[in-house]
Amino acid sequence: MAIKYSLPSNIDPARLPRHIAIIMDGNGRWAKQHKMLVAMGHRAGTENLREIIRNCSDIGIEALSLYAFSTENWNRSKTEVDALMQLILDFFASEIDELIQNRVRITILGDKAGLPAPQREALTQAEDRTRHLDGLRLNIAVNYGGRAELVRAAQALARDAAEGRIAPEDIDAAAFENELYTAGIPDVDLMIRTSGEMRLSNFLLWQCSYAEFMFPETLWPDFHVADLHECIYRFQNRERRFGGR
Ligand code: FPP
Repeated sequence: MAIKYSLPSNIDPARLPRHIAIIMDGNGRWAKQHKMLVAMGHRAGTENLREIIRNCSDIGIEALSLYAFSTENWNRSKTEVDALMQLILDFFASEIDELIQNRVRITILGDKAGLPAPQREALTQAEDRTRHLDGLRLNIAVNYGGRAELVRAAQALARDAAEGRIAPEDIDAAAFENELYTAGIPDVDLMIRTSGEMRLSNFLLWQCSYAEFMFPETLWPDFHVADLHECIYRFQNRERRFGGR
């Protein structure tokens, strides 16, 4: 893909991470710092999202996965859950046309069936409207849990084996990957979690097997394109051995 957005000269465009995943952490602390309600922190965290997605698309990143709402996030107050659900709706309503224009293909990671009807419909529609597009693969994790994703894949394969469609010894890593929400998308190369927290929190457990991890201190709403480039620069200066020497 042509590079439409100039990368800083210290980044090698030929060695970009193929798949970047982001845990957008720190919205609550950002809101507190600014003496705002937590919902305002999440809203601020969708403002910078636009430029991050746009830039990944422009510089030719193949896949970007964003952790928007985990299966554990239901345990937050109803007010906060409602605010996040509304933001997800607002995001798709305001962004979908530009995403389509930029040939972005949206995939939802997670259990859509467990979402309220308006969100379920908006997310399904976003997937349907972009399925044929060949640009950035934008994966948005909503009602997502990594362990649940693995259990679901195991169940699908067990069903195939029980019903004679596959022999148990034919179940290999490729067959397993094929049952994940990310089927057909390369493994995560670069996993970024903002706000200084150093945890994976059940995000893309399988897909992160050989990812490089970055934990910038920046709170998510303050994370901009320059910070993304800094992470990519540091990624390019890490030595990846994938278990070899
Ligand atoms: C973590 O910050 C962030 C979340 C639980 C939600 C992330 C969601 C968005 C940025 C908006 C919706 C996304 C899309 C794609 C429309 P936190 O609240 O745990 O922060 P804290 O640790 O400082 O409290």
